[in-house]
Amino acid sequence: MSGDGLRFRRVGEGDLPRIMEIEAAGFLHPWSEQMLRSELAHAWSVVLAAVDDGPGAADRAEALLGYVIFWLVHDEVHILNVATAPEARRRGVGRALMEEASAHGRRRACRLVTLEVRRSNAPALGLYRAMGFRQVGVRPGYYAEEKEDAIIMTMELDPR
Ligand SMILES: CC(C)(COP(=O)(O)OP(=O)(O)OC[C@H]1O[C@@H](n2cnc3c(N)ncnc32)[C@H](O)[C@@H]1OP(=O)(O)O)[C@@H](O)C(=O)NCCC(=O)NCCS
Repeated sequence: MSGDGLRFRRVGEGDLPRIMEIEAAGFLHPWSEQMLRSELAHAWSVVLAAVDDGPGAADRAEALLGYVIFWLVHDEVHILNVATAPEARRRGVGRALMEEASAHGRRRACRLVTLEVRRSNAPALGLYRAMGFRQVGVRPGYYAEEKEDAIIMTMELDPR
């Protein structure tokens, strides 16, 4: 797929059941519906969905393959959450979502993308490294329940 056959759109309230499903499949501590809802309401928060644009996919909830949640703060894009539905992984959806978030940032003159990721999250670390993110710090024991470190990563955005 590699980003082809996908389109991106803002997430609306009607998408929340599908987002909750992907969230539950992707995380040990999924976000609550309330947390997701509040991101939809913040002026500085952007919640984008990657949707299968293929024939027949149009109105099915399952056509929503993944999402990214990010904040635009000053000259930074801060990624809060990104996830791909399990059946759609390794087809370029996660990368396409991160590139879309970066493109949003560029359009608003952002210079940096930042995020935190669990040390054990090999797929996410693989994705971020493949995109050019660099590790710039560690927050020891940041994920308190598992006493797991957060790796802080950043990627500079060249103006295009
Ligand atoms: C992390 C996640 C979003 C990646 O989404 P995805 O759609 O599968 O990613 P892509 O297909 O775009 O992968 C792009 C690149 O990332 C890297 N990557 C993706 N999954 C990987 C894995 N399981 N192991 C190692 N590298 C991986 C690879 O370099 C991959 O390129 P390749 O397929 O050509 O080798 C997905 O695994 C997910 O939803 N995980 C659960 C939620 C989560 O942990 N989110 C991150 C929170 S910080």
